[in-house]
Amino acid sequence: MQLTGKIVVVTGGASGIGRALCETFHRAGAAKVIVADLDLAGAEAVAASVQGAAFKCDVGQEKDIVHVIEETERQFGPIALFCSNAGIVGGFDPMSVNAGGTSDEPFAKSWAIHVMAHIYAARHLIPRMKARGGGYFLNTISAAGLLSQVGSPAYSTTKHAAVGFAENLAISHKAAGIKVSILCPQGVDTNMLRSIARGPQSSDGDLSPEQVAQDALNGIEQETFVILPHPQVLGYMRNKAENYDRWIAGMAKIQAKMREDYGK
Ligand SMILES: NC(=O)c1ccc[n+]([C@@H]2O[C@H](COP(=O)([O-])OP(=O)(O)OC[C@H]3O[C@@H](n4cnc5c(N)ncnc54)[C@H](O)[C@@H]3O)[C@@H](O)[C@H]2O)c1
Repeated sequence: MQLTGKIVVVTGGASGIGRALCETFHRAGAAKVIVADLDLAGAEAVAASVQGAAFKCDVGQEKDIVHVIEETERQFGPIALFCSNAGIVGGFDPMSVNAGGTSDEPFAKSWAIHVMAHIYAARHLIPRMKARGGGYFLNTISAAGLLSQVGSPAYSTTKHAAVGFAENLAISHKAAGIKVSILCPQGVDTNMLRSIARGPQSSDGDLSPEQVAQDALNGIEQETFVILPHPQVLGYMRNKAENYDRWIAGMAKIQAKMREDYGK
């Protein structure tokens, strides 16, 4: 899909990858970029820089997603591309004392933001997109959704679930002209990455959010399902599929090294 003249929504657009997506889509000729974020001041600043519009939105709340969709379409026109990009790091523990954690909180919060948000966007946009013959979802997930995030079971589990939902979304609505891409980088130099301890997500180098946004744009133009800004991830996926036990053993070695480094 070409972005020229299109209406685009980006959740989590106030910062990091979301901000870079807004700027990249604006440069690619989008008619209006809608920046939806919990951080309204940040969203307004990005919206001002791309001549877009801002909405305060908690993506884990269905009513907020409905509000963004209804108001965007009422004020600006049909949404051609909806990017579910907002994300958090919850329950990160480099020592991995217990993958089951100590409370539901990081799992529930990550589930709402990484999974239900994508489901709400589909629930309320699919009928509109079907009626107009198509549309596009770009879901920012992570290489952690294809592989795993050592030290964060809540992140890994919910990002895997997000891949599962995106696959089903793409399969269910391909015949209706609805396209889906998942954006799955490893380390990207953003506030989120800087908020956690340095780990294996950075072992192939951290990319800039601008590079990742350009890869996302290329992927949308080519309509490819999986967008891998770090090409190494494809090799890791192949290794995993080829020999799951060897892959688990390799990841356990990375976990052991992480415990050693943080135990010092
Ligand atoms: N940075 C990385 O290394 C990396 C790697 C792979 C995937 N990702 C994914 O990329 C996406 C963007 O992350 P980022 O690195 O740009 O982080 P970031 O912290 O720079 O930006 C995240 C944005 O999401 C917003 N947000 C958080 N919770 C929200 C909610 N409930 N409702 C609305 N907005 C909310 C924040 O206010 C912020 O503006 C996330 O889904 C993240 O999991 C990041």
